[in-house]
Amino acid sequence: MTLNKQDVVNHMMGFFQAKAVTAALSLKLFDHFRDTDLSAQQLADKIDAPLRSTEQMLIALNAMGYLTKQDNQYQLPTEHHAFLLSDEPMWLGWLGRHIDTFLYPLWGELSSAVKSDTNQREAVFGDNRSWFDILYQNPDDVADFQEFLGKFAAPFIEGFVKDYDFSQHHAFLDIGSGIGTLPIAVANAHPGVSLAICELPQASAFLRDKLGEQGYGDRIEVVEGDVIAGNLPIGNYDLIHLGWMLHDYAPETQITILKNIYNAMPAGGRFIASETPLNDDKSGPEFTALLSLNMLVSTDGGIESSSEEYLARFHEAGFSNARILEIPGPRTLIVGEKA
Ligand SMILES: C[S@@+](CC[C@H](N)C(=O)[O-])C[C@H]1O[C@@H](n2cnc3c(N)ncnc32)[C@H](O)[C@@H]1O
Repeated sequence: MTLNKQDVVNHMMGFFQAKAVTAALSLKLFDHFRDTDLSAQQLADKIDAPLRSTEQMLIALNAMGYLTKQDNQYQLPTEHHAFLLSDEPMWLGWLGRHIDTFLYPLWGELSSAVKSDTNQREAVFGDNRSWFDILYQNPDDVADFQEFLGKFAAPFIEGFVKDYDFSQHHAFLDIGSGIGTLPIAVANAHPGVSLAICELPQASAFLRDKLGEQGYGDRIEVVEGDVIAGNLPIGNYDLIHLGWMLHDYAPETQITILKNIYNAMPAGGRFIASETPLNDDKSGPEFTALLSLNMLVSTDGGIESSSEEYLARFHEAGFSNARILEIPGPRTLIVGEKA
């Protein structure tokens, strides 16, 4: 791939687009277009902002394709409602807030992170507690993180539940389930499989509330635990899944996690990690490569790995028959068994 000068300029100025969108979502500006077209003055009155700056924002959102404009009226295309209106289930404002509060400030220190191979939590937040301790200190931040991850996971879960026969198992434990999207999908498809989640204590109250609201409070058990400390529920779970979590931790911590899971499993049980691995020659994909930099600035040694590297860690932890399973959707499954 050869880049030209404009490609480089576009990469560097990419943050203009990112911040225009997160600001518009944060202002819940799109909500005002739900049922009506608006002029700049009408929107300025609704969001209680000066006309000049409101119009600058509207011109940018129109130029970026978020809004359309006819005469002096701006419109929100109905196809955009599902992810731009704050009361829609797929609203992306959760991600916007997470970016504004955590990711953008941390990425501002990327060059220091590369020079020192260290996360930038202390530099940005003056706080050297773990990534999840900082992230989970405020209930609103828990909601932002879990809600957007649940939406990110949707295409993966659709492919996983369609392609993998969960009914061959009698008890399924999802470690670090987040908002519980995967166990909910399995509950809907396989009434015979018993379901449990193990989550960090700081995320469990939010999770219990969410499951309760959706009517899964009794169907899916929530057990507080920590897969690194090794306090996992010991049950007869013949399937354990860990989604998009290995990459949050350094390779040596990943081995600890894998060994703890192996030890908690019954003989004959199966373990599946879902990740978005790097290509074996580490040539990409671009999203995973950039996500690895996100791990660098935010976590304690978290890093993206290739499928081969994940398999080597599975072997080191004791899993037999370690292998890769490709499923439709954005993630790859790394599978191992306890003989
Ligand atoms: C990146 S999110 C992934 C959420 C979901 N599993 C998915 O696949 O999209 C990682 C999740 O793991 C949980 N987690 C992180 N460290 C953990 C630990 N040491 N023990 C248990 N859960 C943990 C976090 O609370 C968070 O919900």
